[in-house]
Amino acid sequence: MDFSIKTLDPKAASAKTACIICGVFENRKLPAFTAALDAGGHIAAALKAGDISGKAGSTLLLRKLDGVAAERVLLVGLGADEEVAERDFLNANESAYKALANLGAADAINALTLVDVKKRDLGWRIESATLAAFNAEYKPDFLKSKREDAYPLKKLALGVASAKEATLAKQHLAAAIATGNGVNLARELADLPGNVVTPTYLGNTAKKLAKDFKFDVEVLERKQIEALKMGSFLSVANGSDEPPRFIVMKYNGGKAKEAPVVLVGKGITFDTGGISIKPAANMDEMKYDMGGAASVFGTMRTIVEMGLKLNVVGIVAACENMPSGRATKPGDIFTSMSGQTVEVLNTDAEGRLILCDALTYAERFNPAAVIDIATLTGACVVALGHHTSGLFTRHDEAHDALADEILAAGRQSGDVAWRMPVFDIYQDQLKSNFADIPNMGTPGAGSIIAACFLERFTRKYTWAHLDIAGTAWRSSPKGATGRPVGLLTQFLRQRTAK
Ligand code: BES
Ligand code: MN
Ligand code: ZN
Repeated sequence: MDFSIKTLDPKAASAKTACIICGVFENRKLPAFTAALDAGGHIAAALKAGDISGKAGSTLLLRKLDGVAAERVLLVGLGADEEVAERDFLNANESAYKALANLGAADAINALTLVDVKKRDLGWRIESATLAAFNAEYKPDFLKSKREDAYPLKKLALGVASAKEATLAKQHLAAAIATGNGVNLARELADLPGNVVTPTYLGNTAKKLAKDFKFDVEVLERKQIEALKMGSFLSVANGSDEPPRFIVMKYNGGKAKEAPVVLVGKGITFDTGGISIKPAANMDEMKYDMGGAASVFGTMRTIVEMGLKLNVVGIVAACENMPSGRATKPGDIFTSMSGQTVEVLNTDAEGRLILCDALTYAERFNPAAVIDIATLTGACVVALGHHTSGLFTRHDEAHDALADEILAAGRQSGDVAWRMPVFDIYQDQLKSNFADIPNMGTPGAGSIIAACFLERFTRKYTWAHLDIAGTAWRSSPKGATGRPVGLLTQFLRQRTAK
């Protein structure tokens, strides 16, 4: 889709377009722009007649209104409050783009961005309205022999009230487009099946991204991974015929000596559970067990497109978790890159086994902060559902500050997270008679115990862990969300503003 910013004169109904999207309120009042458009009184009449309730997300299409240059007027409910509630604004945009999916209009002007939204500014309105359009346009049917009809809208202008606003809005539009591209990349990678998105495919994706967006990349193969003594990572990879990949991407947008932020993604391209095999129901969804990796790729793409002045390293550990004659057995013990030995009590707790070596590898960058992103535990889905990612850090001043930055980025982007405790006492649930640490703890607090496992490999730097098992995927309709590219991108943008 081709996006632009358009200054809309509130008195002029002269904007030429196939469709103009305007808000209406539940109390039958009209926002200023809609009122100005309604010289003929048709919109007020439609509201009065009950043709549209004005409830957030309700829609009504009118055609060829007197004195209106636009061919169509798409009325969209903004809810009860004239200072629009955030959710109502998001609902209204989502509904508008859904309605446009079934119209013949190839171009449109969105005037919803003119209304005031509670506690949000123009930049937020522009970014949210843009990302909602990306979401409407995205289809996961890459492998259907005949793809569904493409989204009909090709050009979208977002309305602002003045030339001064337009300047600011254009910057936010560019940022939102970069974010939308990154989100779509993450969604595509997670939506494509495990027989396509293999560790090799992820390695090639990294190389292609690095070439197209001009950053450094290294894709390590099995021999090099062995040389690094990543015994824990390899204990997962060994059950599969697909060779593992360890991917390191480096973007140097900041000062030469500035410490980088390191993002570490879990890249299990399919999680069968291994010898501790998962039940058959919905196992297909475990193709998105590389959602953390996908978000690292998406975020790298976005920040390079944005030209963020920051140094960022993206690390992805990629392999399959399969049962086979070469697969790890429960009780097997391996030496991780850190030197700590790990007893594999459950081969389905594989994410932490690959991440711990990637987290040790991250030490070499003397990072300003390390954030790992992983579809790590079913327990996190039980705790927080599909709306909120779990955020885990230690509890000290530096980590509280990092957690606050990440939580704020979540609120700003709408890609929200919630902090969970990583109190020392939970570490008592991780004890092994035979090795330094087991990969599974005693029952209770499964997502925290997983974080406690990772914590033991992150003591040399400031670290946060995002459990995205619930947020990276939605079950109806089935598909990847591209989260938390929005959160990570916002976090990095905030860091450059500092
Ligand atoms: N990839 C799964 C976690 C997961 C579950 C992600 C559901 C998305 C949706 C992870 O590898 C896993 O299997 N974790 C186990 C850990 C347990 C064996 C300690 C789990 O959560 O059951
Ligand atoms: Mn698993
Ligand atoms: Zn997994």
